Amino acid sequence: MSDIDFDNVGFGTLAIHAGQEPDKLYGALATPIYQTSTFCFETVEEGTAKFGGQIPGFCYSRGGNPTTVALEKKIAMLEGGEACISTASGMGAVGGVMLGLLQAGDHVICGECVYGCTDVVLRTTLQKFGVEVTYADTTDLESVKVAIKENTKLIYFESLTNPTMELTDIAAISKLAHKNGVLVAVDNTFTPPPEVYPLKEGADIVLHSCTKYINGHGDVISGAIIGSTELITPIRKGVTSKICGTTPSPFNSFLILRGLQTMELRMARHCENGMAVAKYLESVPYVKKVYYPGLESHPQHEVAKTMMHENYGGIMSFELQEEINGMDGFEACKKVVNALKIASIAVSLGDPGTLVQHPASMTHANMSKEARAEAGIKEDLIRLSVGLENSKDIIEDFKQAFATLE
Ligand SMILES: Cc1ncc(COP(=O)(O)O)c(C=O)c1O
Repeated sequence: MSDIDFDNVGFGTLAIHAGQEPDKLYGALATPIYQTSTFCFETVEEGTAKFGGQIPGFCYSRGGNPTTVALEKKIAMLEGGEACISTASGMGAVGGVMLGLLQAGDHVICGECVYGCTDVVLRTTLQKFGVEVTYADTTDLESVKVAIKENTKLIYFESLTNPTMELTDIAAISKLAHKNGVLVAVDNTFTPPPEVYPLKEGADIVLHSCTKYINGHGDVISGAIIGSTELITPIRKGVTSKICGTTPSPFNSFLILRGLQTMELRMARHCENGMAVAKYLESVPYVKKVYYPGLESHPQHEVAKTMMHENYGGIMSFELQEEINGMDGFEACKKVVNALKIASIAVSLGDPGTLVQHPASMTHANMSKEARAEAGIKEDLIRLSVGLENSKDIIEDFKQAFATLE
């Protein structure tokens, strides 16, 4: 199996074979769960050499574990990177990137709309350590250009923003950043491969909440940081698992290895269902606007066509009309969501089942109404993670939910 020419195989083959080899002890084909805190040495000399890195091997699972290493190799290859650090959560990856790449006196440019906890890291944690942050509209190159300063070290953004579904042209931003000696880190949680490949577009670091599509089964919290060995090594040595303890459990690594084996099939179905549901929602008179990069009405549809390789994913959001049969949009939105039978009301995304949530009262409830309006998050916006059910059934579920507005 180690003879596979991984440079010349497709995504599905990589997802199954990359990083995994039959277990050396018993030949187990599935990578075993090495559920152990520590590893024994035959001699003091062996321990000394393993601790010193003169011979390869494992010492203590906070710093490294065989199940997790298999996962790191697989994720690195799927994203087209040299190295990967697996973390206990997506926020572990966000923190690792920020603390690993930045120091006091540095300046970061951050996309205007990022995940709420990432926003806290930028607005609170980093400021405490003397790192300055400017927010810019990363869909507008000029707005990023004017934000670049002498001490700008990093441009950070999410490939597709949540819940407004704005898409950043990673290649254009990376070109601008590198001309100015600035690094680019992209949170690719919403558009994982085979949708968007940030490193191939020119970004330096890509990170994930593997909790979402990478694991894909809604039963794990995990994250990953991927990039060149040169950039990943200092993050690993100075911050993440060994030092700050962002270590994933071997059991979770095993579950993600298993989930990844079907990633190509899962993503194809998410994309197919996503497009079918987005087109249906666009045809519903109660719906004012659908935000989905696969629709021609999406403002960055042209960028999406090339950057997403025509795989537009399963995430979308939509707004209802301001007034529907005597109800305001917010009341109508609650009524529709409460009436859904197949879709579950839950945050998170990329699960096998369809998930629906109301950002104004859930994920973005800690923002003021004004701040939400500024970020384009309307009070009647609904976010949908279209799952792997039959699209006909998801659409029928929405039809019966909309019928409650009549
Ligand atoms: C875009 C994005 N990045 C990071 C995170 C954090 O990931 P986790 O919940 O795995 O810590 C999330 C969580 O929803 C997210 O949506």
